[in-house]
Amino acid sequence: MENLTVVENPLVLRDITILRNKLTEEYDFRLALKRISYALVNEISKDFLLDEIEVETPLETTNGYKIKHPIVLIPVLRAGLSMVSAFIEMIPHAKVGHIGLQRDEETLKPVDYYYKTPKNLDVSKVIVLDPMLATGGSASAAISFLKERGAKDCILACLICAPEGVKKMAEDHPKVKVFTSAFDRELNSVGYILPGLGDAGDRTFGTL
Ligand code: PRP
Ligand code: URA
Repeated sequence: MENLTVVENPLVLRDITILRNKLTEEYDFRLALKRISYALVNEISKDFLLDEIEVETPLETTNGYKIKHPIVLIPVLRAGLSMVSAFIEMIPHAKVGHIGLQRDEETLKPVDYYYKTPKNLDVSKVIVLDPMLATGGSASAAISFLKERGAKDCILACLICAPEGVKKMAEDHPKVKVFTSAFDRELNSVGYILPGLGDAGDRTFGTL
């Protein structure tokens, strides 16, 4: 799948195992999710453009760099919130918008309930955060909304994705790169990722 980058290393594989384990409690779940988010932001940042600047060390002037474009983080509520802290620590000047989407349990279609995004989406690198890419309905709707508001350069960061969701993203938004830490087998009959980790929002916030 051309639009997909799977970020894998031994620490990520260990942390995905912690997330998958049904016995993992919210506290450890959130920490593992945060550690994987650091790995994702590192990989995603390889696409950032830099401006060269001069920097004065205590000894002399040398070359340095700053990120060329503004960066906007867009967590998809609720579960995407859990990825924000790692991303904002690594990109402290990022602005943060929010999109509230909830899958209708029967139709599996996303229902929107909240939107608030910063200005200047058109000149920003926009990183959508959502741990689960299942049918792809929520992520695709979030990116369509951002494009309607002017976003031109969007990336999707997730933890676990299903082939169905990656395919939908490639069809609806072929230019959007998807970064994930696991590419799972399939969806079950009610739209959950297999083997997956269950409901990311409920497991993060303890609302099971
Ligand atoms: C989850 C997840 C995604 C969506 C993925 O959210 O965080 O947003 O499902 O499914 P899809 O690819 O089939 O659209 P959910 O609707 O459970 O809301 P929540 O984060 O509030 O729990
Ligand atoms: N949303 C989740 O939280 N988990 C899934 O497996 C699918 C959608």
